[in-house]
Amino acid sequence: MSPTDLPLEPIETASIDELRALQLQRLKQTLAHAYANSPVYRAKFDAAGVHPGDLRTLADLAKFPFTTKKDLRDSYPFGMFAVPREQVARIHASSGTTGKPTVVGYTLKDIDTWATVVARSIRAAGARRGDMVHISYGYGLFTGGLGAHYGAEKLGLTVVPFGGGQTQKQIQLFLDFKPDIIMVTPSYMLAVADEVERMGIDPRSLSLRTGIFGAEPWTNEMRHALEARMGIDAVDIYGLSEVMGPGVASECVETKDGPTIWEDHFYPEIIDPDTGEVLPDGSEGELVFTSLTKEALPIVRYRTRDLTRLLPGTARPMRRMQKITGRSDDMMIIRGVNVFPTQIEELILKRAELSPHYLCVLTREGPMDNLRVQVETAAGVDPQGSDAQAAARQLQHEIKVYVGSSVEIDLKGEGGIERSVGKARRVMDLRPK
Ligand code: DLL
Repeated sequence: MSPTDLPLEPIETASIDELRALQLQRLKQTLAHAYANSPVYRAKFDAAGVHPGDLRTLADLAKFPFTTKKDLRDSYPFGMFAVPREQVARIHASSGTTGKPTVVGYTLKDIDTWATVVARSIRAAGARRGDMVHISYGYGLFTGGLGAHYGAEKLGLTVVPFGGGQTQKQIQLFLDFKPDIIMVTPSYMLAVADEVERMGIDPRSLSLRTGIFGAEPWTNEMRHALEARMGIDAVDIYGLSEVMGPGVASECVETKDGPTIWEDHFYPEIIDPDTGEVLPDGSEGELVFTSLTKEALPIVRYRTRDLTRLLPGTARPMRRMQKITGRSDDMMIIRGVNVFPTQIEELILKRAELSPHYLCVLTREGPMDNLRVQVETAAGVDPQGSDAQAAARQLQHEIKVYVGSSVEIDLKGEGGIERSVGKARRVMDLRPK
């Protein structure tokens, strides 16, 4: 039985041949539009000696230059837009940790396209007619809240636009309004679940049936933990503001095997992050996207810095991406070994005495980089007690065996790791610059 009673769009079940033909046609339009209307793209294409007319097949895209966050920063705020500012209906921006934010823009048609792909994502998660969606992604310049909101509305569902924070109030509304679906970062979902339990309520007794989690890396172990604890289906939604926002790709609930890329709007490539060479499907590398229908800010070969691989379609003919293991920005190199926070998360979640609230702290002693993993014990487990200490030793051993790196474990009591209301911070780098 289909997990949804809402009709799919025809393109979601179109043949690969139909899809590739549509992509080629849209790719040609996008390159022509970017070249004609954005001086930044024109200069980049000219410098690389390529012209939109050089694209005859999808593989020809490899001839075109990449776009990076730096290109957007250098043209702050609106320099890369390909329509007059008056035609831009909405601006979003990602905060970034240093310097100017990255600014993105949408025409009314772009907003409608975005709502369409988010609606598709919510439907793929198993939404049914009449469902109520509680949104805890932040509203504002971050794309999470408004992106989710317009998609849920477009699907015809009832939307509760809460945003982040005020955890107890959110929980009160769960009890009073009885939402079916929640859209939130997985780390904030954990913080909410903790609070529900502190209030003496079993999270499984809530009305929620589905969680649509994204905006940060999270593991399958975290999925299983959230599903068991909340009594929900947990699916992964992926996206980034430079390409659109949430809903570039999203998981189908019947398979939960990595987000399906909505390939009729976003063309994916995987490249070797060092050489820029395009790698065949199935290889691990950096994910690169080209928008196929965007007007205000066409994006050509945007380097996401997210590491994954492209996989064949399962629940839909469109390709999937493997659940993101990490961003190249988050990769830690400990004594020559590459370590991602998600690898640590996977091992923490195997130990019942530990909670998935953790932080990786990097320091330098002499020439050596040191990693200390701060992790909270599970509710009711004393960090000084022998069970917790044994769990810490086991975790340390497993990290050594599976990740290949010696680390220190620093156990914290409940609340010892700062909670986020949006994206969790998993790495604190205290090494001298
Ligand atoms: O985080 C958009 C979004 C909002 C996606 C809500 C999903 C849900 P940015 O703030 O521009 O946009 O951050 C984009 O977040 O390049 C990834 O590194 C990371 N990211 C987003 N979704 C996932 C995910 C939004 N499902 C950056 N899994 C991306 C892993 C994710 N990482």
